[in-house]
Amino acid sequence: MSRPIVEILADQPRGEFEPALAEANLAAFRDQGFTSIARITTDEEVAWLREVYDWIYEAGRTPKAARFDLARPYDSAGEDLLPQIIAPERVLPALKDTLFYRNGRKCAARILGVDEGVLNGWGHMIRKPPKTGAPLPWHQDEAYWDPALIYRAMGSWLPLDDATIENGCMSFVPGSHRGEVREHWHVGNDPSVHALYCKPEASEVARAVPVPVPAGGCVFHQSRTLHASGPNTTQRARRAYANEWQLAPVKADVAVQRRWIDEHREAWAQRDIDDTRKTWAEKEPG
Ligand code: NI
Repeated sequence: MSRPIVEILADQPRGEFEPALAEANLAAFRDQGFTSIARITTDEEVAWLREVYDWIYEAGRTPKAARFDLARPYDSAGEDLLPQIIAPERVLPALKDTLFYRNGRKCAARILGVDEGVLNGWGHMIRKPPKTGAPLPWHQDEAYWDPALIYRAMGSWLPLDDATIENGCMSFVPGSHRGEVREHWHVGNDPSVHALYCKPEASEVARAVPVPVPAGGCVFHQSRTLHASGPNTTQRARRAYANEWQLAPVKADVAVQRRWIDEHREAWAQRDIDDTRKTWAEKEPG
C-alpha cells in the first residue's frame, strides 16, 4: 500500500530543470515524425512520479471510465495485460504542476512552432506489468480520435522505468507522419478491445526504429507517426506516462467515416458506467 496521498503531495519536488531540445531534434521530428531527449525532468521528480503512479494504479483511485485494459475486452476478468489510466491529472491536478508537464508543453510548442498558450494537454498512463505486459501493435494515435475533427497534435512520452527493447520501448516508422490516417482494426477484431492496429507495408516495418530511453527521458512523436511497442519480457514493470499536446481541433468540412470508431463507440456505450463519468474518456486517447 502507498502512503496517504496528502503525504505524497506534500513531498512534491520543486526543483527546476531546462530540457535540452536541439535543432537536430526539431529536424528529426519534422523529417521523421519523432525524436527523443535523454532527460526532461529530474531524478527527484521521476522518483516522486513513480510513487504517484503506483498510488493511482491502486484499486478504486480512478472512476471506471478512466481505466481499462487496452489489450482485452472492456471490464473482462483476468490479469492486467496493458492497463491504461486516462487523464490522471483530473484525479490529481498536481500532475499539471510538474517539470514533465511544463517542459513537455514547452518542447511541444517549440516543435510545433506555436505559443505554449494555445496547446491543450491531457495525460495517460500505460503500464506494462512484468512478464505479462502486452505488445501494442502498429497504429497511429490519431486513428483513435474523432474523425469529425482536424488535429494538429503530438505526444510526449516519459518512461518512469528505463524503456528498453526487452520491456517494450516504442518503435517508429520514420516519415510515416506525412501520410493520412490509415485504416485500423481493433485488436482481435473485437471492438470491445480498445487497442487498434493497422497494417504497415513490410518495407515500413523493416525500417522501423526502436527508441530506448532512460527513465526521466522523453520521446516525442507526431499524432500520425506509425508506432508500436513490444511485450515486457522482464521481471519489472515498465511504467510510462504520456501527455498529449494539441491545438484546439477544427471541425472538418466533410466528416470522415471511420468504421473502427463507430464500432468502438458502440462497444464503449455498452460499458456499465455512470453517464456522467462516460465523458471522462470523450477524447478517446490512443
Ligand atoms: Ni500510441
